[in-house]
Amino acid sequence: SMVTFDYSSAKGFISDSEITMMERIAENAKEELVKKEGPGNEFLGWIDLPIDYDKEEFARIQAAAKKIQNDSEVLLVIGIGGSYLGARAAIEFLRHSFYNSVSKEIRKTPEIYYVGNNISSTYMKHLIEVIGDRDFSINMISKSGTTTEPAIAFRVFKKMLTEKYGKEEAAKRIYATTDKARGALKNLATEEGYESFIVPDEVGGRYSVLTAVGLLPIAVSGADIVKLMEGAAAMREHCINSSYENNDAVLYAAIRNILLRKGKTIEILANYEPSLHFVSEWWKQLYGESEGKDQKGIFPASVDLTTDLHSMGQFIQDGQRTLFETVMNLEKSTCEILIEEEEVDLDGLNYLTGQSVDFINKSAMKGTRLAHTDGSVPNLIINIPEQNEFYLGQLFYFFEFACGVSGYILGVNPFDQPGVESYKKNMFALLGKPGFEKQREELLKRL
Ligand code: PA5
Repeated sequence: SMVTFDYSSAKGFISDSEITMMERIAENAKEELVKKEGPGNEFLGWIDLPIDYDKEEFARIQAAAKKIQNDSEVLLVIGIGGSYLGARAAIEFLRHSFYNSVSKEIRKTPEIYYVGNNISSTYMKHLIEVIGDRDFSINMISKSGTTTEPAIAFRVFKKMLTEKYGKEEAAKRIYATTDKARGALKNLATEEGYESFIVPDEVGGRYSVLTAVGLLPIAVSGADIVKLMEGAAAMREHCINSSYENNDAVLYAAIRNILLRKGKTIEILANYEPSLHFVSEWWKQLYGESEGKDQKGIFPASVDLTTDLHSMGQFIQDGQRTLFETVMNLEKSTCEILIEEEEVDLDGLNYLTGQSVDFINKSAMKGTRLAHTDGSVPNLIINIPEQNEFYLGQLFYFFEFACGVSGYILGVNPFDQPGVESYKKNMFALLGKPGFEKQREELLKRL
């Protein structure tokens, strides 16, 4: 079976003829993408990645993961944006809900912490305390090799590693994932002899989860990266070869654009399993950075349910009607807990005796879907058969492919991110980075 897209609950908001009228536009967008004829086509390496990746490097990733599992109690994953979110999404979805705190006997693999995705000294200081005097390794991930947040964290933790092990042994515990030829991290890796992995030129950060960027940390966590690639390959086949009316990813792209044109400018990605929280974070980056440009785009938001029904639920049900909701439905729960009978039914839950908690969760989901639909929030569903590597590989690829198609339908280049530079220039100027003197003067006047 496959990850599938179901828009039947949104039929009250979209007519069949609208879907038919979108066919040519969506198919053209798909063709532009697959034939690599659209804007940003120098960044389409991800399309064939699941069937055409560097097998030698893949084996090195697996070997490095084994070594880290054997010699480290902690792995630090240093990276931000596309160099961070995919790995975290996968590990949180595939592994234990309390991965870092559950006993080593259950986890079996190193604790994994993410750093370099903010500039908080408190966060880093606390992480240093968590590591304590335990053995650790670092996976430093930066395609450009010059991003400030991870570079700062790397300085701090490289120093800690070097003080603990000495320069030579520390170098053997640092794994650099970066550009094959350019950038400060590449130079450092060459100079210091770190084992390095490549972020291919033609794969942008937010599309890089199935390269070493995601694969090394995911493999260290004990998840099966072969199955992850197989899942992506299965979805690739489906996305490229299915006709419009059967093509889940192309239909998702088409329908979100139909909704956008009706004024639904915000898409909320909802889940009913906390393990999907970081899949939503990854998705927000993918769609936000790909589509939010030229004063266009759908604003990607997310909620964890039923948690957020007690906070954002009111707005979704009844606030400004600019929303549509896409629910990631995990069809089969990994674990089951049954409600047991109590002699005295003080909490009034005996009517649920013998039901599984997942049945209650699914009922909450169905009830919410209907309520939101009644509140004029079109509901789309993405069905994920099970919580495993194969289906996650499918899900990643589904979203990536749909994002490319959707961006072309919208009329933007989904593979650049010019807007990300503005804050960096200001920050460098304020920090007094050489070369930014003039901007510094101008900014200081405004502060
Ligand atoms: O998607 C992107 O391009 C960005 O989010 C980058 O991944 C992020 O800025 C990190 O860049 P780098 O890997 O060069 O450090």
